[in-house]
Amino acid sequence: MHVSFNIGSDLEAAVSGAAQAAGLEPGAFSPELRAADPRHGDFQANGVLGYAKARKLNPRAVADQVVAALPASLREHFEVGIAGPGFINFRLKPATLLAWLCTYDSAEHLKSGAAALYHGQRYVVDFSSPNTAKQLHVGHIRGMVIGEAICRLLAFCGAEVIRDNHIGDWGTQFGKLIWGYKHLRNDAALAADPLEELERIYKAADAAAKADPAVLDAVRAELVLLQSGNPENRALWDRINTLSAGAFTSIYRQLGIHFDHQLGESFYNDKVPQVYTELTAAGLAVESQGALVVFHPEHPRFKTQPFIIRKSDGAANYASTDLATMLYRTEHFRADAIAVLTDARQSDHFEQLWLTTQKWFAHTGRRLPRFEHVSFGSILGEDGKAIKTRSGDPIKLQALLAEAEERAFALVTEKSPELPEAERRDIANAVGVGAVRYADLAQNRSSDYIFSWEKILAFEGNTAPYLLYAVTRIHSIFRKAGLDPAAAMAGATPPETPEELALARKLVGFATVLNLTTAQLRPHFLCTYLYELAGEFSTFYVANKVIVDDAPVKARRLLLCARTLLVLETGLQLLGLRTLTRM
Ligand code: ARG
Repeated sequence: MHVSFNIGSDLEAAVSGAAQAAGLEPGAFSPELRAADPRHGDFQANGVLGYAKARKLNPRAVADQVVAALPASLREHFEVGIAGPGFINFRLKPATLLAWLCTYDSAEHLKSGAAALYHGQRYVVDFSSPNTAKQLHVGHIRGMVIGEAICRLLAFCGAEVIRDNHIGDWGTQFGKLIWGYKHLRNDAALAADPLEELERIYKAADAAAKADPAVLDAVRAELVLLQSGNPENRALWDRINTLSAGAFTSIYRQLGIHFDHQLGESFYNDKVPQVYTELTAAGLAVESQGALVVFHPEHPRFKTQPFIIRKSDGAANYASTDLATMLYRTEHFRADAIAVLTDARQSDHFEQLWLTTQKWFAHTGRRLPRFEHVSFGSILGEDGKAIKTRSGDPIKLQALLAEAEERAFALVTEKSPELPEAERRDIANAVGVGAVRYADLAQNRSSDYIFSWEKILAFEGNTAPYLLYAVTRIHSIFRKAGLDPAAAMAGATPPETPEELALARKLVGFATVLNLTTAQLRPHFLCTYLYELAGEFSTFYVANKVIVDDAPVKARRLLLCARTLLVLETGLQLLGLRTLTRM
């Protein structure tokens, strides 16, 4: 029996087809398929109600017509029933559940099933994108972690993903950095911790410029030299960027994050004049108080608060380079979709950027890609304020990750003192870094969240330790039975007990949650699903003995264990976690 990966979307198409065959007005009916209350089935189509009401028809009669027109093959997979005033309920048959579990038996097969979703679509994902010469602190982790998960998820669902780290490597801060580098640098400190030293240099130069007008002039002169292409300052700029990028890379490596490109703001310097010319020619950009700006008359705020695309001193800014970036990603990368991750404070910028791009591309007859500003809230300390160290500085990412590993090491040592230290260290790495990461992903990204070591490292609740532990528990079932979870479970019969059925249904629901997660670019949907799946598994495992004498029963229960393991591991890896076989 062939079963598709995403049974729900096939069903939706079948209901639409049936409605058309039954003579419902084309285009006026939508199935409105959703997950049903498990007591009534797996899916419910509610579309008949609205359709019938608008036309003063009897909804039950319309539902009867639609159901009668369903293709016969659908009945192989579903029990179909009509409930209440005209809800159509579909319950997956146990044989179909079994067939799905047998078909999607490896990460590779899950992936080829999911690939239909974004096949042939090219996504440019702009994430992390820190500013040169600034320490990565805890606030930077959200963009990194959510961005990496989004890239993995889109690629798993068939998209061609281009990962771009749009570093803030240009701007007025370089006047101070170069002046400070020339006059204040400590070479030993620079070798030991480049970001720390560059940040110190920057702060010291900033203070000196504030205290002494002569320094301020010198700083400005360095910036002018850089902008006019002075070779010495260009070389220093290059050196500062290289030092800074090297430090970023070591954190990326620690978090398993990679990029295909690192086209920073400076890459777009020579691409900005075209933006000015085209936007001016289109009548979109106008001069205002010496600056070049774009107003959006249809917008309540941006009709008076313009998008400044060239400053009054003639210099390019964040808006100019981002417009050039839009064009480059559309033309050079031929992106079908562009996603940029930053915190929600940049919402206005990206809204203006997108409004401007739409008009600009329409005017010049360009194809418009889809665009999404994937924004996120802040991480707060337990006092509900921006998270800080005791001395009031932002917490450095490096220190946060080190602390996570240390705390996880203590936990692992308490739980499994018998394991060799090297293994406990390895487990602590996966659990500690995983916990920080998962805590971030498990929250709806739009909200702020409160960081608490106790919560993120708890072995209960929707946490990395809980899920990583659930994975190792299933591994140990197979270890004890002397079996390989990847082996085919020959002779398995369809699920039968309520717990087997509930677990099988949850597993099949993996496809639906991938749709939802990628459509909204919100990894927390997948987290919630994995947490619920682990709960479903516990319920099943408590109520149904797996290693029993009855061979077909044993085979089907082992099959459920193996697929739970597969989906948990696949899901956690998509979120960027490293899974373990024991802990
Ligand atoms: N460098 C910016 C910052 O630290 C983020 C850049 C995001 N990408 C972009 N194309 N604007 O806030």
